[in-house]
Amino acid sequence: MDRLIIRGGVPLRGQVEVGGAKNAALPAMVASLLTGESIRLHRVPQLGDVKTTIGLLNHLGVSVERGDRESLSLRADGIGPCEAPYHLVKTMRASVLVLGPLVARFGRARVSLPGGCAIGSRPINLHLAALEKMGATVSLDAGYVEAKASRLRGARITFDGQTVTGTENVMMAATLADGVTVLENAACEPEVVDLAALLNGMGARIEGAGTPTISIEGVSHLHGAEHEVIPDRIETGTFMVAAAITGGDVTVTHCLPGHLEAITEKLRETGVLVEETDCSIRILGDGQLRGVNVRTHPYPGFATDMQAQFMALLSIAQGSSVITETVFENRFMHVNELLRMGADIKVIGTAAFVHGVPMLSGAPVMATDLRASASLVLAGLTAQGTTTVSRVYHLDRGYESIERKLQSLGADIERVAE
Ligand code: EPU
Repeated sequence: MDRLIIRGGVPLRGQVEVGGAKNAALPAMVASLLTGESIRLHRVPQLGDVKTTIGLLNHLGVSVERGDRESLSLRADGIGPCEAPYHLVKTMRASVLVLGPLVARFGRARVSLPGGCAIGSRPINLHLAALEKMGATVSLDAGYVEAKASRLRGARITFDGQTVTGTENVMMAATLADGVTVLENAACEPEVVDLAALLNGMGARIEGAGTPTISIEGVSHLHGAEHEVIPDRIETGTFMVAAAITGGDVTVTHCLPGHLEAITEKLRETGVLVEETDCSIRILGDGQLRGVNVRTHPYPGFATDMQAQFMALLSIAQGSSVITETVFENRFMHVNELLRMGADIKVIGTAAFVHGVPMLSGAPVMATDLRASASLVLAGLTAQGTTTVSRVYHLDRGYESIERKLQSLGADIERVAE
């Protein structure tokens, strides 16, 4: 297992390019199950979760070829076991995305139930209720959910709560259903919009993606397509915080600032200067940060996937901040590690009360999920002394070569194999 060793205190400077979005690439890869023709994707980042998805798709009979560094060609022209096994779903919950496409195209799917994880219980009841409404028979057996339908039929579905992968799962299923499906209270995340764009490129008829009402007119079959994945807004946000927390001057390039408005607004409130173009964001910090209150929400609100990184930032901001997590019930696993670095944070229910301290101090730390690990790297970049972040495989699931990119900005960070 690798560790990252960070000697903090260097203000980051320069330009850094973000990769394709993990949470857009994964559903885009899974969408290949909906057709026997080839799907060519560009800007697919080289990440742990992408590797896991390739393994899952191979298991399902999809051939996957890497082209140049960031392209993938996927072809689902055979039919595999239609089953997503436990060992894959438990390491990556996005595996559940195969459920909708498999039932829609092959009439059946057997997917392991994900169970709880480090950030909450994360049930899939909303995915299942929607598929049932579309005529699937859903049953549970030996930890697996089994769904069957000779052909799904269009339905009007009002989600009980907003769910990103739930919306994506059902949207994919509805592309091959008989008739029109209308999704109400659908997730509005840019990753949902990106998936709809790919599906429409494959011949689907989807309207309204990016709004709470999505309508999908089913078609008899989909065809091959070529698609470029959108830039990763969470990677972008993480580099923005890296610049701010070190009082640096960083321009993040190849990104879409329009996807980060809530983050940009909060950063400006902390006193950081933010300059945007259509495809880049410059962050200029002077090390003087003010505390702000943050409340996570589904898009376009403040992303839960940026909460941990902001907590690292606010732990050295002047004054008090309250961070309220409304999306997941248990997403404060980074707090205890930040405390070990000298932060002053108290968690009461869904709120974390942060009193800024002048400085964090380096320590050996580890985290149990991806974004929590990112927050510890950020804390290490500003801390006095040396921070060792263990269990780097969490970071590798969602950040491509994070240490290389940070090094290019002047950070004193290295990866060592244990
Ligand atoms: N929920 C239910 N029932 C369901 C589905 C969701 O109760 O059937 C609840 C969840 O427990 C949670 C809330 O609804 O409390 C929102 O969950 P959602 O389904 O939107 O999350 P997700 O689709 O499993 C995606 C991202 C996460 C991101 C969340 C929220 C992917 C592959 N994952 O997860 O990304 O945090 O949306 O924006 O798109 C990450 O990248 O680090 C990550 C965890």
